Amino acid sequence: MEIRPLAPAVGAIVDGVDLAHLADADLKQIIAAWDAHNALLFRGQSLDNDGFIAFARRFGELEHAPIMENGRTPVPGYPEIYVVSNVKGPDGKPIGSLGAGEAVWHTDMSYLDNPPDASMLFARELPPTGGDTWLAGMCAAYDGLPPDLAKAVAGKRIKHDGTFNSGGYKRAGVEVKDDPRESVGAYHPIVCAHPRTGRSALYLGRRRLAYVEGLSLDASEALLDALWAHATRPEYCFAHRWQVGDLLVWDNRATLHRRDPFDETARRIMHRTQIKGATAPIAA
Ligand SMILES: [Fe+2]
Repeated sequence: MEIRPLAPAVGAIVDGVDLAHLADADLKQIIAAWDAHNALLFRGQSLDNDGFIAFARRFGELEHAPIMENGRTPVPGYPEIYVVSNVKGPDGKPIGSLGAGEAVWHTDMSYLDNPPDASMLFARELPPTGGDTWLAGMCAAYDGLPPDLAKAVAGKRIKHDGTFNSGGYKRAGVEVKDDPRESVGAYHPIVCAHPRTGRSALYLGRRRLAYVEGLSLDASEALLDALWAHATRPEYCFAHRWQVGDLLVWDNRATLHRRDPFDETARRIMHRTQIKGATAPIAA
């Protein structure tokens, strides 16, 4: 097994390992790399649904997949697997979520009090181009905060909105409010301590309908704009171009991610699992 960084601020690739037959010693090295790099890429993996779930469980207890935009459970018999796809089934309805459009920068499900610690994507079918997944390292982004921004965020919390998903679709059963202070969501500290490593990380969630507690709306918008511009600077980012058999896992407590759009007439099928949040985000 060989582990190399993908980018300075986030991610490492783990070569020479078959995740369907993972030795305990290899898992130990993988978890150490996970703590150091906050995202890991494994290529050329052959995993069936059981194998994918078994590997995901090595990182912790799994969430059940959210109900999709069409109100269905994505993979019959595997409630832990969520399908991210633009493909339509025989009934003409999408087999998964998020379509083919851009998914804007976010961290998964931060509108919950106890968001998932990690998310795992496994590429089953891909378009010839497009659909790259971008990661941004929030430990490095915190470390690189200019002093005025560091001072402005100290001790503050953000309201993380739960009205829309990252593809811009409204979540089922949620009422749209224009004022972020009135919409559904959860408050979390802007600077969180990673529960495993103790490192400080920016925890931003998503930009749309976010609100910095205690500020006027205008002041909140200005601070959020400055924070997001900083956190997504190119030096903190890595763009992953997918191959079938890639498995990418990222730590929601220490990264943001987004997705490039792709040709809607092409097929893309990704399977996702999520590791339950062991704790609510902790202030640094
Ligand atoms: Fe996501």
